[in-house]
Amino acid sequence: MANRKIPLFDLKLSAESKRQVREVMTSGWLNSGPKVREFEKEISRLVHVRNAVAVSSGTAGLQLTLEALGAGPGKEVITTPFTFVATVASILHTGATPVFADIDPTTLTIDPDEIVRKITSETLCVLSVDIAGRPADYRRLSAVCETHQLPLVADAAHSLGARVGKKSIAQLADVAVYSFQATKNLTTADGGMVLSRHKKLVDSVRLLAQHGMTATAYQRKSSHRWMYDVIGLGHKANMSDLHAAVGLGQLSVFDKDQARRAQLADRYHQGLKGLQDYLELPTVDKGEHHAWHLYIVKLNLSRLRIGRNRLMEILADTGIETGVHYRPLFEMSFYQELGYTEQYFPNAAYAGRRVMSLPLYPTLKPSDVDYICDQIARIIRRFAR
Ligand SMILES: Cc1ncc(COP(=O)(O)O)c(C=O)c1O
Repeated sequence: MANRKIPLFDLKLSAESKRQVREVMTSGWLNSGPKVREFEKEISRLVHVRNAVAVSSGTAGLQLTLEALGAGPGKEVITTPFTFVATVASILHTGATPVFADIDPTTLTIDPDEIVRKITSETLCVLSVDIAGRPADYRRLSAVCETHQLPLVADAAHSLGARVGKKSIAQLADVAVYSFQATKNLTTADGGMVLSRHKKLVDSVRLLAQHGMTATAYQRKSSHRWMYDVIGLGHKANMSDLHAAVGLGQLSVFDKDQARRAQLADRYHQGLKGLQDYLELPTVDKGEHHAWHLYIVKLNLSRLRIGRNRLMEILADTGIETGVHYRPLFEMSFYQELGYTEQYFPNAAYAGRRVMSLPLYPTLKPSDVDYICDQIARIIRRFAR
């Protein structure tokens, strides 16, 4: 067994998060209140989009956004099979049907040409996912969506901090849903936010997140008015002030953390570039700013005498934890039972066998990255074809 232990993910909360949480704990108000409003304003400022609603998770944000757009039985949402289950489950929960389009093998994000082939009269919208923090191809996605008059929804769970030119994902898509789950680049423990330039859409999501009620408990308390109406069937999906406090505290170190992620990604690149016959490294197009949520390498399986899973086991023996983002959803039993198969998605199927995520988080040491690169090089030399 190795002495060294490098987890895939680690987290150190900022001193400001602890201070913010203590403040809420003694404020007498724990659920959605002033901290949630402040957090919404700060994220709005960060992504340059005015309308924002904080929710209990990215998953809830996706489902409520789709509901607000009119998702339900008889409607189709075109999305990628190469994603976390939450993306696609959020479609199914509305009663709509997920329709998969294959991915671009380099960016691992949905291929706009494949979307065009999947559009029918039932298509409601396109739901793209920025894998690992690399923006999807928004220029081509917007062109397809504009031509066919379909809203473009971005699952931006990985891409807070990502930009194309100066534009954030929330500016590039019609609506973006961010996640603040514990492993994300900015966390509230669990939480999410829906941001859009379309005010009516965000107002609808806000109503849906608070039982369809016209006023929250905090609004009633602060206005000394108990009256409210219920104007639709909603959900319980609001964010609490306690969670927002963690997020506000983490925002104070966000820029520093992002810079650190970018430095570590560059160090991986330098350390692994000699192995490019065996490993494809993540790339960024000119003008794109990657959020570096994950560092995903792709193995050139034809040049290796072992598969990805065996390589991960050997790395684990040297104390290095790695992950897979993602096994495509058509490989999962539930989705197979629904009739999805890999047959029409060769790029997603191949990517699912060759991707491997390396540790990447602000507290990771440069010397850890060097150690990881050395171990990968050693194993690859041993098993190279
Ligand atoms: C691509 C993607 N979409 C959606 C989600 C769901 O976010 P949450 O965990 O905040 O519900 C995640 C979270 O892990 C994710 O990775």
